[in-house]
Amino acid sequence: MRAGMTVVAAAVLVVAMTILVPEVDATRWIVGANQGWTNNVNYTIWAKDKHFYNGDWLFFVYDRNQMNVLEVNKTDYESCNSDHPLHNWTTGAGRDVVPLNVTRHYYFISGKGFCYGGMKLAVRVENPPPPPSASPIKEKSGTPSALYRGQLVLPAVFAIGAVWDAFVRFW
Ligand SMILES: *[C@@H]1O[C@H](CO)[C@@H](O)[C@H](O)[C@H]1NC(C)=O
Ligand SMILES: *[C@@H]1O[C@H](CO)[C@@H](O)[C@H](O)[C@H]1NC(C)=O
Ligand SMILES: *[C@@H]1O[C@H](CO)[C@@H](O)[C@H](O)[C@H]1NC(C)=O
Ligand SMILES: *[C@@H]1O[C@H](CO)[C@@H](O)[C@H](O)[C@H]1NC(C)=O
Repeated sequence: MRAGMTVVAAAVLVVAMTILVPEVDATRWIVGANQGWTNNVNYTIWAKDKHFYNGDWLFFVYDRNQMNVLEVNKTDYESCNSDHPLHNWTTGAGRDVVPLNVTRHYYFISGKGFCYGGMKLAVRVENPPPPPSASPIKEKSGTPSALYRGQLVLPAVFAIGAVWDAFVRFW
């Protein structure tokens, strides 16, 4: 009984820490914001002042009957060549999520001719900055990630509280 509770408590702690540490700052970027993935948007300008971190996602929202989402290399991005994509992210729903899980440049185009009109996106994925040492929640409040922190930190606090309770009671 006692050993069982300790194992459960340890498992809860591990899960809480796993959720808390690497994903706390992850951002899901809606490509093109409220315009989505379409023509007549300059995605170079959209991406210009943004920092994309390893662990973030890109969310492409578009007209599934017209566009698609192809990951290509730099050459094919520049020339709008969709003949040999590195990855076809098109699922058919017009809502495709791409995990940015490697620190490198990513290049996306829409095939079907739309790339020539500017439907092309290049992002550089960086390592996330080290977390600030003191009161990260307060420092980051007001930024989009505050929402994620609020959602994740609170359950984690409860989980850690439960662990502590378990130790006090059963150990
Ligand atoms: C991209 O792929 C094409 C075709 O496979 C190749 O010719 C080209 O050299 C590649 N470019 C880069 C930067 O890897
Ligand atoms: C990409 O995948 C979708 C869904 O499987 C498919 O319908 C489409 O033909 C593919 N496009 C290319 C360029 O491979
Ligand atoms: C990144 O995500 C892709 C798609 O889910 C997956 O196939 C790949 O293994 C992942 N790479 C790493 C380094 O996690
Ligand atoms: C997007 O804007 C950039 C920077 O102003 C410019 O260099 C580029 O040519 C534009 N791209 C398109 C497709 O209009």
